[in-house]
Formats: sequence, C-alpha cells, structure tokens
Amino acid sequence: MHALLHAVTKPVLTNNAPTRNRKLLAWVDEIAALTKPDRIYWCDGSDEEYNHLCGELVATGTFRKLDETLRPNSYLAWSDPTDVARVEDRTFICSAQKEDAGATNNWVEPAEMRAKLTELFDGAMRGRTMYVVPFSMGPLGSHIAHIGVELSDSPYVAVNMKLMTRMGRKVLEVLGEDGAFVPALHSVGAPLHADEKDVTWPCNKDHKYIVHFPETHEIWSYGSGYGGNALLGKKCFALRIASVMGKQQGWLAEHMLILGVKTPAGRKHYITAAFPSACGKTNFAMLIPPASFKQQGWEITTVGDDIAWIKPNAAGQMVAINPEAGFFGVAPGTSYETNPNCMESLKSNTIFTNVALTPDGDVWWEGMTKTPPAHLTDWQGKPWTPGCGRLAAHANARFTVAATQCPSLDAEWDNPQGVPISAMIFGGRRSDTVPLVTEATNWEEGVYMAATLGSETTAAITGQTGVVRSDPFAMIAFCGYNMANYFAHWLDFGKNTHTPKIYCVNWFRKDEHGKFQWPGFGDNMRVLKWIVERVEGTASASNTALGNIPNYSDLDWTGLDYPSEKFTAITAVNTVQWMQELTFHQALLSKLQHHMPAALTTRFETLQKSLRAPSRV
Ligand code: GTP
Ligand code: SPV
Ligand code: MN
Repeated sequence: MHALLHAVTKPVLTNNAPTRNRKLLAWVDEIAALTKPDRIYWCDGSDEEYNHLCGELVATGTFRKLDETLRPNSYLAWSDPTDVARVEDRTFICSAQKEDAGATNNWVEPAEMRAKLTELFDGAMRGRTMYVVPFSMGPLGSHIAHIGVELSDSPYVAVNMKLMTRMGRKVLEVLGEDGAFVPALHSVGAPLHADEKDVTWPCNKDHKYIVHFPETHEIWSYGSGYGGNALLGKKCFALRIASVMGKQQGWLAEHMLILGVKTPAGRKHYITAAFPSACGKTNFAMLIPPASFKQQGWEITTVGDDIAWIKPNAAGQMVAINPEAGFFGVAPGTSYETNPNCMESLKSNTIFTNVALTPDGDVWWEGMTKTPPAHLTDWQGKPWTPGCGRLAAHANARFTVAATQCPSLDAEWDNPQGVPISAMIFGGRRSDTVPLVTEATNWEEGVYMAATLGSETTAAITGQTGVVRSDPFAMIAFCGYNMANYFAHWLDFGKNTHTPKIYCVNWFRKDEHGKFQWPGFGDNMRVLKWIVERVEGTASASNTALGNIPNYSDLDWTGLDYPSEKFTAITAVNTVQWMQELTFHQALLSKLQHHMPAALTTRFETLQKSLRAPSRV
C-alpha cells in the first residue's frame, strides 16, 4: 500500500515541520500522500495564528465576526443543517475481536474498516489545507497527560482545538524526537475540484465514519465537522481511546464534570458528576449557591464540565484531572438565571456554533432572555420572529470557550497532580421513577447504580429525543471497549483505592402537568450540601431498597418555599415504577451477560427482593 501511495504523491506546500519526531513526520507524510491536500500547515497555537485563521474563516464565510463592542473577539458559525450533532450510529470501535467492543458499540472488522477508510480518505483533502494540530490532554508535561496530534482539513477544527486543548508548539517540545502520541485523522470529506467554490460548512452528507482502533490507539473521523465528531481530543481520544488506556493502566476516563465545594468551616471537597449529554454537567460545574448558602460561606468552583481522568495517587486516594482546557457547551437554556458563571465566560473570545444572530451583531438562543428579540436571523440564515414556529438556535447549538474565561474556575484546575475526590454523583434525565437523590451504601451498590443509569435522549445526538435508554455511567456512547469489562474495571478499581461515596441524582422529575418538580440549577446546592455533610458524617438519611435517601429535615431549605409534600413526591420510591425499571436493568444485564461481573447480578437479585418485600407485608 505504501509504495502505491508514494507513487501518487504530488509535492505539497508546507511550512517547515517544527519537529524532529520521526513517527510524527512519517505519519504526516503518509497521510498527506493519501489525502492529497494542497498545503500542509503546522499549528503553533499562538494568538496571532488563532486570529489569522479566524480572519480566514470570516473571509470564506464560515465565520461571521460578532459586534466588537457587544461580543469582543467572538465569532458565529452556522453548520450544514445535516451536520449538527454527534452521530452515534456512525461511530465504531474496531477492535480485533468483536467481543472486545462489546454489545453496546458498533463494530466492524479492522482490516475491512481500514480498507473502507483508505478508499474514503484517498484524495479527501484535495483543494484544502491539512492542519497539523498537536495537542495535550491534561497539563503540558504532566505524568497524567497524554499527547495527540490531529490532522484535519478544517480550519474551524484548528481554532476550536486551540480553545479546547493545550495546543501547538509547546506540545511538540514535550513530544521531542521519540515521544508517543495518539494519531487522530479528520477530514470533512469534501475535496474541492479545481475552480470549485467552497461551501461555508463543508461536510459529507452521504458518508460519515467516526472510527477508533483501540489496539493501536488510532482515530479516523470522516464526513462531519461538528463537535465531538471533529474535535477529536474530546470524546474520541479523552473518552473512547483513554478508557481503553485506563483499563490497561489502572485508571478511569469518565464523562464527568469536576467541581470544588468549600464548606463554611473552610474544608475543601472535590466532587465528580456524570450526567449524559445535555443533562446538566456545565450547569452543575458552574453552580452559584442560593444567597442564603453564600452567606453561610458555601463556595463552588469549577475544575471541568465534561471529562475527568481519575487515577489513584501514592496514598491510594482517587485524584482527578480535567484533560480539557475549554468548554464546548450547550447554548440553549443558558441564561443569567440558570448559569451566570457561564454567561460571564461567554462575554468575549468565544466561538458560537448554530445560535441565532441579532440585528446588532450579537447572539441569541432559546432561554437566553425571557423575551426574545423582535427580529433575528436563525441558525439557518433565515429571518426569524417570535412565534414563527421555528427554533432560532438549533437545540444542540454550542459555544467554545477557554476555561480561563470562567469566573468560578478552581485554583487547582490546572494542577498536574489532580484534585482528590470525595464523592461521585451519577444522574440522568428522568421524568419519573428515579428519586431526587440516593446514596449507595457501598462501592459495589454504587457501581450497580451507575451501571443501570437510564436517561431520556437529547439533541446532543442525532435521532429521536426524549426516549429513555440505558446509559451506563453516562458512557453508553463513549466507552471504547466491552461495557461489561468496564463494569468489572470499576469494581476492581474500588478494591485498591479509598473509595468515595457514590450518589444518584435526578433533577428532571415532572408532575402530572409535565412541569419540573424540582427548581434545579442553583437550588441543586441543597442536595450537594447534603452530600458533603454525608461525606463528613454529619447528615442523616433514611434507608430504602435503593439506598439512603434524605428526609425533608435533612436538607437546608433556607430561602426556598418547598413544602414537605413536594419533597415526598420527588423522593418517593414507587414500587410499581421500580418493578418496571428493573425490567430495563434486566434487559441491560442480559445484553451484557457474557462478561457481566457476578457482583452486579447479585445486586440485581437483592434489589428485586427488597423492592418486592413491602408489598408482601
Ligand atoms: P454535554 O456537553 O452534552 O456533555 O452536556 P452537559 O451535561 O454539560 O449539558 P448542559 O449542562 O449544557 O445541559 C444543558 C441542558 O440541561 C439545558 O437544557 C438545561 O436547561 C438543562 N439543565 C441543566 N441543569 C438543570 C437543572 O438543574 N434542572 C433542569 N430542569 N434542567 C437543567
Ligand atoms: C456530548 O455530546 O456529550 C458533548 C458534546 O459533550 S460533543 O463534544 O459534541 O460530543
Ligand atoms: Mn459531553
């Protein structure tokens, strides 16, 4: 294959390769020969480069510069309407053995997939520039960090990677001549023929492939320019490939936010929370406590909003880092009421994708203000007025912004040693069944709780929204290997470390009129305070079949009128609903039965027995 590739190589214009890493140089040559870009550009990660590329994106129409006074140094991109979210049905884990991908992943035999991808990538970058984007997931040079290099024909990807990761020349310095990196190849899959005019959002409508080779730690992504499909440091590397590395090396790569809580007594706790896509991680990570809590001295700080890498330290304590350096968050629903820290982060230096444009050159999305502007241009470039029947912003419209823009950023966010974890929260979007908060009584029960998590699907993925599906650990789309083996890895992990307490939360329970029964957002602090007090051993709870649930009097209600009947309604364990829920658990257990750890089937049986018990008395 190589001889053939080199035979068709044509000379490319390239800035001098700023590395002597042999593997990297060889790989760039090989991919250039295959994809045939007009130019190769090595990203240095400087602000000048960022500004220059943004300028080019404005010139080609991909970006619109927002008003410099209203939204300084910020840009708006509108994607192709067919390229708006992650494509889970086009995402593949191509392990040598099908069994290693497991029952929850799409699998194709690696040689077959390589042949298909080689065909698609042949000439895929014609007429375009191939950007070489070196990036570090985690603080540069940290023993916890890992380096990747993305080769992409999308300048939109290059500028987003600058905000989302530690990117550029410094990474190549750390890589040196012999350093290892994860090769991450990306093409929008839209080669340009001579004199063909480019579109503002090139992508491939017919072919999309988001492919991972776990044994060789390679990523190949074709046909999409959007989010996790294209910013390969995020889901492809920091979750799917990293989860495989973690399994091999004894650590965890998780779809989790990390936040800091300072108690009035001045004690600091770090807590992780895993919620599925568009289920509240960014909001929770940047939570502002209710006024009465602030007066008591509670403070919340942000370490990360999407991904955590968790390792045991020398003392056997679990420590976590945020491998990312920015936020790629859901815009709709974000407002000064729901998430003021986020709104402050987005005041400048932000890239917006698929939100609406105001007549004065600013942005707007559903939920940003109570009253929508009278006139907008929607995310598809069409005139928009309130009540026209269309969304102004796409439901999965997003912002990209550097973490350093966030006012609540934790002082330790960049600490290469990571932060020690006191508790882990899991949660889904469930209109019924799942109580506001439940505490697992031990690690194994906690792993069961996380493994059987369910959630209603959201606009973060293509396909139908609002359908309850099993989403173990909020990792259904992100675990790079057999999910049952992943459960076993979690159970093992707990054996050698001081285990934090595990909780399950649900902010999304609805009443009979379809209204949320829990105020959510800042008021989630009430649940968080209880969790911290449980960790410190000062709060009480009642034991139920599911685990420990707070009594009304265990939560701090200052500043909120929330009667105990309402609390009873959102913490109730309804036996009929739970027997139904157990059928979902059973379906998951049987789907994954081949490698299912016995501890989890045993827990299922105990849970079934204890849920049945009350009806017998
Ligand atoms: P990804 O970036 O897709 O992984 O998701 P995320 O978990 O970071 O999602 P995000 O925090 O951006 O979730 C956004 C959605 O969750 C919006 O629709 C919010 O309105 C909603 N949301 C967040 N917190 C709460 C809450 O406490 N209560 C309710 N009812 N909705 C919430
Ligand atoms: C998610 O879908 O969980 C995201 C957004 O965080 S994306 O990066 O597109 O995967
Ligand atoms: Mn996510």
